[in-house]
Amino acid sequence: MEKKNLDWENIGFNYMQTDKRYVSNYKDGKWDDGALIDDANIVMNECAGVLQYAQTVFEGLKAYTTESGKIVTFRPDLNASRMVDSARRLEMPVFPEDRFVDAVAEVVRANAAYVPPYGSGATLYIRPYMFGINPVIGVKPADEYQFRIFTTPVGPYFKGGAKPITICVSDFDRAAPHGTGHIKAGLNYAMSLHAIVTAHADGFDENMYLDSATRTKVEETGGANFIFVTKDNKVVTPHSSTILPSITRRSIMYVAEHYLGLEVEERDVYFDEVKDFVECGLCGTAAVISPVGKVVNHGEEICFPSGMEKMGPITQKLYDTLTGIQMGHIEAPEGWIKVIG
Ligand code: PLP
Ligand code: COI
Repeated sequence: MEKKNLDWENIGFNYMQTDKRYVSNYKDGKWDDGALIDDANIVMNECAGVLQYAQTVFEGLKAYTTESGKIVTFRPDLNASRMVDSARRLEMPVFPEDRFVDAVAEVVRANAAYVPPYGSGATLYIRPYMFGINPVIGVKPADEYQFRIFTTPVGPYFKGGAKPITICVSDFDRAAPHGTGHIKAGLNYAMSLHAIVTAHADGFDENMYLDSATRTKVEETGGANFIFVTKDNKVVTPHSSTILPSITRRSIMYVAEHYLGLEVEERDVYFDEVKDFVECGLCGTAAVISPVGKVVNHGEEICFPSGMEKMGPITQKLYDTLTGIQMGHIEAPEGWIKVIG
């Protein structure tokens, strides 16, 4: 299979249409067999549930080319099960987890020419999503749904790649107690758009959201969880029922403990203690591990000792180990890597 002639090193985090996408429709209480199709456009009724009441959930994962030239994905079973949780919370039918994993493999295989080569710094981003498609005017769940997966080659989420970013403490809240912060629903991102546009206009790369009940605890950003490193090299991550359970973060905590022998803690992280950490990073599929150099809270700056030039040493070790596992030159824990082709 011949790769597309793309400038892999400089593609950024943008949508690029690829050849095939996977579609399955839910009607009369069941999913059809699903198929790969060519058309990237979707035709639906003006009153579709997704258009009126935002009944849509999604996932994000990546395909990588390993050092030995294989195409692999990273823990797709966890995306499948998180999508089940998301669907249930929005009263949507569940797309079977085994079918999710198979469909991811099928669509990646069909777009293999777009999987960036090893060492390019780029990956193939995979976006599974599902939405209510039949007309709904009273506020209630749709009866018919479409599950789709498209792929698009991407580079680093933050411009500058591994360069530390500056974030601000947001005055807006991302998630309410007992709300939908723990699922991957489009509505969580729609309501974060004003906050991110405001942060960018003020010169920041991202927002740090605090817990909306007390505004004393660190939650996450609009698209990634936090990790912090203490002076004595402990890796700390916020525990909260209103953040998305990041697969990258769960993997990093495992790697920290079992590969690097570091102490790890998932617990409440109070904003007041952020100044005492020596390193900070954002972790997610898109973000990988993006170092944070500075947090600004209404003009008050917290500058981590790791600085604005490069990742701190522990963040770097976590990054190297995680990406080493994903790219196949460090042995993965059982079941983490799914070989696709
Ligand atoms: N938090 C939010 C709000 C996200 O959108 C994402 C992206 O998926 C993450 C965290 C990171 O999760 P994961 O590592 O599973 O991609
Ligand atoms: C991801 O990391 O997959 C995300 O969904 C974050 C962002 C692009 C929304």
